[in-house]
Amino acid sequence: MTAQLNARGDVAVLVPAAGAGVRMGPGGPKALRLLAGEPLLVHAIRRVAAAASVRMIVVAAPAAEVEAVRELLASIADVTVVAGGAERQESVSLALSVVPREIGIVLVHDAARALTPPQLIESVAAAVRGGLPAVIPVLPVIDTIKEVGPGEIVHGTVDRSVLRSVQTPQGFRHDVLAAAHAAATDPLTDDAGLVEKAGVPVTCVPGSEFALKITRPLDLILAEALIRLP
Ligand code: CTP
Ligand code: MG
Repeated sequence: MTAQLNARGDVAVLVPAAGAGVRMGPGGPKALRLLAGEPLLVHAIRRVAAAASVRMIVVAAPAAEVEAVRELLASIADVTVVAGGAERQESVSLALSVVPREIGIVLVHDAARALTPPQLIESVAAAVRGGLPAVIPVLPVIDTIKEVGPGEIVHGTVDRSVLRSVQTPQGFRHDVLAAAHAAATDPLTDDAGLVEKAGVPVTCVPGSEFALKITRPLDLILAEALIRLP
């Protein structure tokens, strides 16, 4: 069944999905690899479309797969599909360029975080709506973190209490994200990193274990288990 997006919603969600999935090992683009019989991108979009304030979804697909992705998603929701770029940041910029100015809140959400619950999408959007210019979902860091130098010699132990693992969706006021991307010079930083460089405060909200980034084969096994939870 096709999900109906909220025509009066105030949120556009950009979904970068143009990566190769090198760390997943041999196979097609990661967003099109199967989890419980369906592409990761399908799982991701279904959850984005279920978030109540989402008015527009823009997917950045691998350039060779734009038509295939359009067909794949047509039965799920009214999704705009653009060709992505060589770096994730370029994919995000290309997707952002088709969002109309009147949509005030823009979320950027990795297709690879395919099991992210709609509630997390709504909580990030709500924090931006409440007045924060930039919002990221985070989890505490669990492992002890060491700083090391040449020869794998430990220099010190980092104070874990000030560290956070960052997930997506990252949420922004539209103008803040557009200005940060227009000024971007480092293609390897995340969207919040671009905004930080512009001097805009970025605020953390609680993330979700279900928003794990499916990166390596082990993550697919974990995701297969998570998706079966009642
Ligand atoms: N992405 C993108 N365009 C790129 C690179 C990445 O849209 N040029 C997207 C990926 O499709 C993914 C998200 O950004 O949904 C996060 O990237 P990552 O998990 O690193 O995915 P890949 O780049 O596909 O994986 P790898 O780095 O292992 O190749
Ligand atoms: Mg990558």
